[in-house]
Amino acid sequence: MPPPLHAPLLNPSLLAGDHAHLGASAAAVAQLNLPWLHCDIMDGHFVPNLSFGPETLAALRRAGIKLFFDTHLMLSEPHRYIEPFAKAGANLVSIHIEPDYDHAATLARIRALGCQCGIVLNPGTPARAVEHLLGAVDLVLVMTVQPGFGGQSFRRDMLPKISQFRDWRQARRLGFRLEVDGGIDADTAFECRAAGADTFVAGTSFFRAADKPAFAAAFAKL
Ligand code: DX5
Ligand code: ZN
Repeated sequence: MPPPLHAPLLNPSLLAGDHAHLGASAAAVAQLNLPWLHCDIMDGHFVPNLSFGPETLAALRRAGIKLFFDTHLMLSEPHRYIEPFAKAGANLVSIHIEPDYDHAATLARIRALGCQCGIVLNPGTPARAVEHLLGAVDLVLVMTVQPGFGGQSFRRDMLPKISQFRDWRQARRLGFRLEVDGGIDADTAFECRAAGADTFVAGTSFFRAADKPAFAAAFAKL
């Protein structure tokens, strides 16, 4: 079994932060020396919920937040919003495979704007749906819940899909990160790590953790 390529990275999701004080929630992540912040963007159409938009990212930048913004677009028409997010300070922009638009062109546009790019699959979408794009992405995000809301239960049946991407990455000598998102805590992250994941989005479990340094240390040891 090939080993994971990247060191384990805990990636807190701002969606579970305090929406009256998102700057403080982001600063709490930076204070732990965690480099990434996961930003969930929802349009009330691709998913049945709304979150925040590019102006929130821009405001965090103006407030001095220097974290790597891993921006997860849960949008029916993500290709229409790439430029605003790049301008607002996104470092990586991930787009879903499920809606019908030009995925390859949108990934190329993200890179042309100076960002890294990622492709995302819902739990019901098979790995082969994005196989043709693996050479064109910096990150593959395997959703381990149906996207739309924080606080849902981890879908253990996604583990074989994670391993499929690990195997393809190894066989094709690719370097993309393998990220999981939804219901992640130290225990479910351990299972995902064994399956090949290296980047762990954690919303509810991170922001509810009373001892955040200990929580982060558990992920560093995965
Ligand atoms: C789900 C979002 C997730 C969410 C995860 O639609 O994509 O990033 O914030 O939240 P938890 O960690 O609470 O499952
Ligand atoms: Zn997400």
